[in-house]
Formats: sequence, structure tokens, C-alpha cells
Amino acid sequence: MLSRYLTSLWLLAGSAFAAPYKSHLPVVLWHGMGDSCCGPSMGNITELIQSQLSNVYVHSVRIGDTEDQDRNFGYFDVLNRQVDEVCEQFKADEKLSNGFNAIGFSQSGQFFRAYVQRCNDPPVHNLITFGSQHAGVSEWPGCKDRFDVQCNLARSLINRGAYLPWIQHRVVQAQYFKDAKHYEEYIAGNIFLPDINNELPDKNETYIQNLKSLNKFVMIQFEEDDMVVPKESAWFGYWNEDGQVIPLKEQPLYKEV
Ligand SMILES: *[C@@H]1O[C@H](CO)[C@@H](O)[C@H](O)[C@H]1NC(C)=O
Ligand SMILES: *[C@@H]1O[C@H](CO)[C@@H](O)[C@H](O)[C@H]1NC(C)=O
Repeated sequence: MLSRYLTSLWLLAGSAFAAPYKSHLPVVLWHGMGDSCCGPSMGNITELIQSQLSNVYVHSVRIGDTEDQDRNFGYFDVLNRQVDEVCEQFKADEKLSNGFNAIGFSQSGQFFRAYVQRCNDPPVHNLITFGSQHAGVSEWPGCKDRFDVQCNLARSLINRGAYLPWIQHRVVQAQYFKDAKHYEEYIAGNIFLPDINNELPDKNETYIQNLKSLNKFVMIQFEEDDMVVPKESAWFGYWNEDGQVIPLKEQPLYKEV
């Protein structure tokens, strides 16, 4: 996975990212599931970015007080709380006060989008998401390491019923789980994704304006993604009730708002 991120980043470094007038904006990274703020993967990506963008300031999101907590919060937390935490974290960082470019890996792509829609202070200029689940997932994203205890626990909880309130308020992946065949249950039971995707009856105008305020929103989908089901969720594509993937531009989400 890391090498795929790195390859795509090389390609991007010269384009969206390094628009000359914004070339020195800081970069904020938010790692994916099972990873942490401060391990080799975010470390390597930081090095790559700094080597390309004259040692620009790079901040790697850490949820909680330690690297272990941060990894654990990638499985067990309430996402609405987590988004509030990053709102405070970014606001408190003076080096980010003029805004920044954001990169969200996997699940953190949709979490970063929630930051943009809900807070965006300091503002994100360009948002790049890698293999994210913007439209949700219909299956557990998969544990890379089968001995990862937390990952296996989170998966077994989701299998009990992703929309059960006590699971919604514990398991992160349940909060972007979407069962296309039971849409009403998803709308009623999922405490995160229907809100940030403006699927609820009351549309939030702030979400729309904040998302539109981005200079560029780059969504990268991995053609051979076997973790994200459907992989097109990286571009907001999702199953209809007959099991066909409907691209964003043909969905009510896109047509209505
Ligand atoms: C990440 O950095 C470490 C230490 O510099 C290096 O050994 C490793 O090969 C790097 N990984 C990738 C995928 O570049
Ligand atoms: C829309 O979102 C903003 C930012 O999170 C929030 O302050 C506001 O109350 C929301 N409005 C509605 C109608 O839900």
C-alpha cells in the first residue's frame, strides 16, 4: 500500500500540490486504519514531501496522547468526536494558521473531508484522498495483519450489526458502513456518513460551501483495491439495490446539491 501512495504522490507533487503561488503551504497527513501518526509510512511520506517542496512544514495527525492510542482510535472511537479533536488540533498549531494542503489516506480521506465541511478553520487549500471510502463500504475493509487483535475485534463487532447504537458509538468502521439493500436503516442508524454526505432530509448548506471552497479536491482510486468494497467508493461511486455501481454524477447526492 505504501509504495502505491508514494508513486501517486510523486505524480502529484508537481501538479495540484505545488501550484507556484501556494508552494510553501504546510501539508497535513492523516494516516489510514491500522497505521499511526509516527511510524515509518507517514515518516517516509513526510520525507518525500519535504524533499520535493523545500522542507515545507508537515504535520501528521495524531488522535489521543500517544502513538498507541492513535492507532487504537483508528478502530474504536466516535468519529464526530474525532473530527472535533482535529478541529482543535489544527487551530492550535500556529504554523497552520494560513491554511494547508491535506492528504487523507484510506478512511482518513472521508474524515478529512468532514473537517473541511464542518470546520475548515484554518482552511484546506487542496484535499487529496487515497483509496478512501467517501460513499461508505458494504464490507469490512479487511485486516492486513490477521494477528491484529484490534482489527479482528472491530470486525467481529461490525458483524453483529453495524447500526446497533452501541456499535456505532464504538467502532469507527461501522460509522462509514452502508448497506445498499437497507438504505433506510443506514440513514436512521449511521451516526456519521449520512450527515457528512448530506443524505439526511435537512441539507447542510455550510457543508456544500466549504467543500466548494477547496482549490482542488483530488480523489485517487486504486484499480486493484481489494480492501475497499466497492473500490469506486474512493470516487463516491456506490452500489444501487441491484448491485450495480452508480458513479457520483448519476447519484442524487450530486444532482440535488
Ligand atoms: C521507509 O524508510 C525506511 C527508513 O528510511 C526505509 O528503510 C524503507 O525502505 C522506506 N520504505 C519505503 C516503502 O520507501
Ligand atoms: C451545518 O454544519 C455546521 C458546521 O458543522 C453546523 O454549525 C450547523 O449547525 C449545521 N447546520 C444544520 C442545519 O445542521
